[in-house]
Amino acid sequence: MSAAPRAGNGKITVPDILSRKSQSLSDFGETKRKITCLTAYDYPTARLLDDAGVDILLVGDSLGMVVLGYDSTLPVTLDEMIHHTRAVRRATRRALLVADMPYGSFHGDRGEAVRNAVRFIKEAGAEAVKIEGGERRMELIAQLVEAEIPVMGHIGLTPQSMHAFGGFRVQGKTVEAAEQLLRDARAVEAAGAFSIVLESIPRELAARITSELRIPTIGIGAGPECDGQILVLHDMIGLSLGHKPKFTRQYANVAETISHAVAEYAGDVREGRFPADEESYHFSSEMRERLLTPRRS
Ligand code: KIV
Repeated sequence: MSAAPRAGNGKITVPDILSRKSQSLSDFGETKRKITCLTAYDYPTARLLDDAGVDILLVGDSLGMVVLGYDSTLPVTLDEMIHHTRAVRRATRRALLVADMPYGSFHGDRGEAVRNAVRFIKEAGAEAVKIEGGERRMELIAQLVEAEIPVMGHIGLTPQSMHAFGGFRVQGKTVEAAEQLLRDARAVEAAGAFSIVLESIPRELAARITSELRIPTIGIGAGPECDGQILVLHDMIGLSLGHKPKFTRQYANVAETISHAVAEYAGDVREGRFPADEESYHFSSEMRERLLTPRRS
């Protein structure tokens, strides 16, 4: 396992993320750069994202849907998350690496939840974990922080609550729901989280939470006032095959690029155009002479 690189040389740390809060007390009118965050699940894409200067790489449990082919995030296991986090760790030098605690890994015994989070740090090289849920995760978040594990909160449309929500729906649209989300955000901050993801909530509510909290908010379908933004990588590069939510902006069409490349390759193989002579290895002239020249017996 490769460990997280040390701070320095531009390495993004948890205190760096905290200092990027747009309305921080030390702000003095200076505009803070928004925090950039993307999901990553494997070595090559994590390398590209890290080289491009993305601040936070999240090994999200969206892994289950966009990479492993499950129809929700619920079946993703702790071992699957750790396996992919290790691959992303090997690729990541600069970005802060956060791993998502999957469904079932923090819902039972508190001690077991802490042990599972510790596995992400010790075995996978994550620098923080993300936990879905607000007020009712307060004690757990505090306990993880106590165990020196930085926590990113996540409220709003938390996909692990899809059965309780009755599907994937925008959250916080009534007065009661908006007030509950405000309480959730305050609770996550009070418990010691260093940042919080706001997913699929009205822009106005996200703006209110962002202006109230001292920790940075990272929005996904939560409008532009958040301190940073996150998207699922496969959605923004056009590589996810399922439904794409309204908030996704697609910057590339990688699925089309792959399909064209594969069709061209298959055509070349079938028609004998691949491999060409320059793509083949050759004997030396001596070997050709010894093995290929017909000999008289
Ligand atoms: O699993 C995930 O990718 C996430 C982000 C969308 C925030 O939780």
